[in-house]
Amino acid sequence: MTLALLSLVLVLVAIALLLGYTIRTGISPVPTTPRVAAEIFILCPPGSLLPPTAGGVVYELGSGWGNLAIALAKRFPERAVVGYELSPLPWLASRLTLRLWPRANLVLRRADFLAADLGDAALVVCYLYPGAMRRLRDKLERELQAGALVVSSAFPVPGWRPAAVRLAADQYETPVYLYRMPPEVESELADEP
Ligand SMILES: C[S@@+](CC[C@H](N)C(=O)[O-])C[C@H]1O[C@@H](n2cnc3c(N)ncnc32)[C@H](O)[C@@H]1O
Repeated sequence: MTLALLSLVLVLVAIALLLGYTIRTGISPVPTTPRVAAEIFILCPPGSLLPPTAGGVVYELGSGWGNLAIALAKRFPERAVVGYELSPLPWLASRLTLRLWPRANLVLRRADFLAADLGDAALVVCYLYPGAMRRLRDKLERELQAGALVVSSAFPVPGWRPAAVRLAADQYETPVYLYRMPPEVESELADEP
């Protein structure tokens, strides 16, 4: 009985945490599917990144349960890969996974990526939502070096013209957008709310 009650409390706390952080960040920790990940990797093959001397870090903004961050760390073994995630449960799960299957080049931080300095990025990967993309655009324009790549799943960076777009082979044909800094600006209209 006590065990059942304890389990129930734990489940309720987990649900409350997930819901609370979904409200706080504006998005739930839905993971990138393998089909979308495949398009991300086609868009940014290792040779397309800045040389490591120019900084060379791969960032995942909102790394969720860690599946894509781990795939990125495998894909770019010579790069430091840094994931930022605010929601405690997915972050904890990703840390546990990393503890079980360590990757020397991967760091998973429980922090707000909007407060991080991305100036040494070679590649920024994200799967967020339109409001976050608007906030992120100004930050990326301020901080990223020329030549750095930005890959966004599902949502474009408003006002930027993508260098390439690929559609995933899933039922939504999820678009994946590639940008190279400095991006070509599409139109002033895109700045409107
Ligand atoms: C749709 S999920 C994507 C998860 C992972 N990137 C993937 O593709 O599998 C978006 C994640 O971004 C996180 N997030 C949103 N805003 C954030 C912020 N400002 N700082 C850190 N994480 C954030 C959310 O908590 C959520 O887990």
